[in-house]
Amino acid sequence: MYKERRQRLLENLPDYSITIMMAGSAPYTVGDEKYPFYVNRSFYYYTGLDRENLVLMLVKMPQRTSETLFIERYDPKMAKWVGGKILPEEAKKISEVEDIAYLEGLDTYISSEINSYGKYHAFTLCGELSKQELEQPSALADLFNRIKSLQPDVTIKNIYADTTRMRLIKSDEELELMQKAIAVTNDGIKAMMSRARDNVWENELEAYFDFVLKIEQCGHAFQTICASGKNATILHYSANNCQAGEGELLLCDLGASYKYYNADISRTFPLNGKFSPRQRELYDIVLRANQMVLENACPGITTRDLNNMVLDFYAEELPKVGLLQDGKTVRDYYWHGCSHHLGLETHDQSLPEMPLEAGNVITDEPGLYIEEEGIGIRIEDDILITEDGAVCLSNNIMKDPDEIEAFMSRR
Ligand code: GLY
Ligand code: MN
Ligand code: MN
Repeated sequence: MYKERRQRLLENLPDYSITIMMAGSAPYTVGDEKYPFYVNRSFYYYTGLDRENLVLMLVKMPQRTSETLFIERYDPKMAKWVGGKILPEEAKKISEVEDIAYLEGLDTYISSEINSYGKYHAFTLCGELSKQELEQPSALADLFNRIKSLQPDVTIKNIYADTTRMRLIKSDEELELMQKAIAVTNDGIKAMMSRARDNVWENELEAYFDFVLKIEQCGHAFQTICASGKNATILHYSANNCQAGEGELLLCDLGASYKYYNADISRTFPLNGKFSPRQRELYDIVLRANQMVLENACPGITTRDLNNMVLDFYAEELPKVGLLQDGKTVRDYYWHGCSHHLGLETHDQSLPEMPLEAGNVITDEPGLYIEEEGIGIRIEDDILITEDGAVCLSNNIMKDPDEIEAFMSRR
């Protein structure tokens, strides 16, 4: 799978190109304590490897292509403290890169390529690296500056767009991993709903979600939002440390991450198990918007088109429930977009204004946030675009208000 992806990438690259991709490394917090390591997702996409300090080099010349993976040398002393570095055989087995070399040889490899072909070389790289970023200290910037000093005529190109186009179309294997992440997220949400009640602390409900993820060997796709009452009107509220009041809604926006593939789900439910009439009428509007996005998402349309439909729908519906008075506009109650791509990143790499294609997975997440009423509602599903329209991958996660009340009455 990874080899095939690299071959497809190479097909799109010009001759005389050397592509360098880095797994990255985690910075230190304080002392010898490090932040958790998050592998560069494109590096992972092309190699299946999730260890620090790995470098992949792809070379494309008129008569040949080559792939070399650079790894750290095994250090038996360090292995006793932090475990062993990846061994050549293991790296080869996972990535199917035949040529494994040690990192200290990287510059020599590169300069020998440059010296054997004294003419034009295009160096492409993984991820957007702007001019400003190249001037900032980073391992990648450092490498490119060294390359430039070896061969000042080198053109640095970017494979961000080629990589993005590939990553946007999900394979069956990727969809399976996403379905697993969604299923675990469903279990986590049910665990929260089962224990919801008036006056509960947000962090208590969050803990039930975390428990399920840990048991299932999943990580978090992003910082969980577990927001009661008015807190739900702050889009990225993630303190999750307040005690709920009586009769409030809880908005949770959360996702499991399984083998780096993410779910991104929002559900809103009444903590005491029963929607008030006002909560219910607003919830129904958001649910209809959510259905509308699902019904209209198809190849050829953009996420902006979908969001414009939501805005038009709200402009019609909100006055019927007493909103949009005193010069207020839809944007006062809904100020984000309804969709983004999803995959190895929660806000997956995408290209601006690119029409949807079969194989894309996007979110469907309209919301309404009425601060003065202490009500925030978002319903977010993950949907797959097919030739015949969209399929809801998170269909099993309950969102019908009657079903939610029935489930909660059985707590
Ligand atoms: N949880 C982030 C988002 O829904 O986009
Ligand atoms: Mn979300
Ligand atoms: Mn989202």
